[in-house]
This record gives sequence, C-alpha cells and structure tokens, in this order.
Amino acid sequence: MAEILVKRASPIQRLSHWIHMVSFIILALTGLGLYARSFFGLTGLFGGVDMSRTIHHYTGIVFFATTFIIFFQWAQAITARGEDSLVDVVRSYLDHDFHAPAGKLNFGQKMFAWFAFFGGLVMGLTGFAMWFPFVLGRGLQQWMYFLHNAFFVGLMLFILVHLYLGTFGNPGSWRIMVSGTVTKAWAKAHHPKWDAEEV
Ligand code: HEM
Repeated sequence: MAEILVKRASPIQRLSHWIHMVSFIILALTGLGLYARSFFGLTGLFGGVDMSRTIHHYTGIVFFATTFIIFFQWAQAITARGEDSLVDVVRSYLDHDFHAPAGKLNFGQKMFAWFAFFGGLVMGLTGFAMWFPFVLGRGLQQWMYFLHNAFFVGLMLFILVHLYLGTFGNPGSWRIMVSGTVTKAWAKAHHPKWDAEEV
C-alpha cells in the first residue's frame, strides 16, 4: 500500500534552509583556512587567501540574512508551548520505542533553533566588527575575535548533532529537505501532537 505523505516544509522554507546550510559550509571552510595554520591548505580551494577572505565576508552576509529568515519561518513552532521536556527528548533518542509528546518541534529542536538564531546573530555582528576593525576600541575588538571563535566552535558542535539527527539519526527526516514531506507514520511517531492537531 502506498505511504501517506504529509507536508512539513514549503519550497521557500527548503530553499532558505539550503542557502543557509551551503553558506555555513563555505564559511566554515574559508574561515578555518584563514584562521588556523593546519587548515591553510583549504584557502587553495577558494583561489588563495585574499579570495577566501572576500568569499568569507560576502557569504557571511547571506548566512546572517538567512539566520533571520529561518527564525521567522519557524517562529511559531519555536515559541509554541508544549508538554515536551528535555528528559523525554533524550529518552526518545535512546529508546526508539518511546516518543516524546512533541508538537511541530520537540524540545531539543526548539533549543537548537534558539541557539542557531543567537549563534548566527553573534557570528554576524562579531564578523562585521572584524571586517571593519577600526570602528571599535582595541579592548572591545579583542572580544569580537574571542566571541567569533567561541561561537563557531559551539555552532559547529550543535550543527554536527543536527546534521546527524536530520539524516541517519532519524530516518525519514532528510526528505523534508528534498521534497518538504514526511510520511504519516513519521509524523505520528516523532511529532504526535502536531500529527493529531495540525496534519
Ligand atoms: C549541515 C547539514 C544540515 C542538515 C542535514 C539539516 C537538516 C535539517 C532538517 C531535516 C530539518 C527539518 C527538521 C524537522 O522539520 O523536523 C532542519 C531544520 C532546521 N535546521 Fe537544519 N540542517 C543542516 C544544517 C543547518 C544549519 C547550518 C543550521 C543553522 C545554523 C540549521 C538550522 C535549522 C533550523 C533552525 C531548523 C528548524 C527547526 C529545528 O530546530 O530542527 N540547519 N534541518
């Protein structure tokens, strides 16, 4: 019997996420090449140091803009009050027979989305300060470097977990990025409140 499919993300939501994702990868590769001697070889992929820096700056604008676009697209689901708790979410990842009573997003996804928003904001603002280094005083400028590096490490870790959960960790999730749909069985299992109330 054919599987029943339900809509989860619109074409514009998918396009925004793809642009955001690709811009993050370009920023990570160019940023690492410019930052650390051991990754210097990466600058060769982008035509050298100067080109890597230019690409990093302008891709940063795309990433900063899509940070806001994605946040507003998901704002309703991110701010929705649910009964889901972090304990339930962790349990549902460890025990595949248990499902948190999640709405459109579970508690872990909401926390990730807030972090992705604030992380994107901090990366963008500190990045602009580093692009125009003589605007702030020396002391404040050093904080910009520190925050840019610290938030990069934090974002990278969370995004690796997000990447895993959006693909191998949760079979059936990746199709949201491709076709914007999920199976009815996926909706019922992972987001039962959303399935019952909105689908
Ligand atoms: C690197 C590869 C990535 C993959 C495979 C991926 C996959 C996905 C998938 C499948 C969803 C839909 C989740 C659902 O509807 O239940 C999603 C949502 C989302 N993604 Fe990504 N993503 C990636 C990168 C990123 C990056 C770089 C960011 C931001 C810095 C990001 C931020 C978000 C946000 C905010 C959502 C909305 C809801 C949530 O928290 O899950 N993603 N992603």
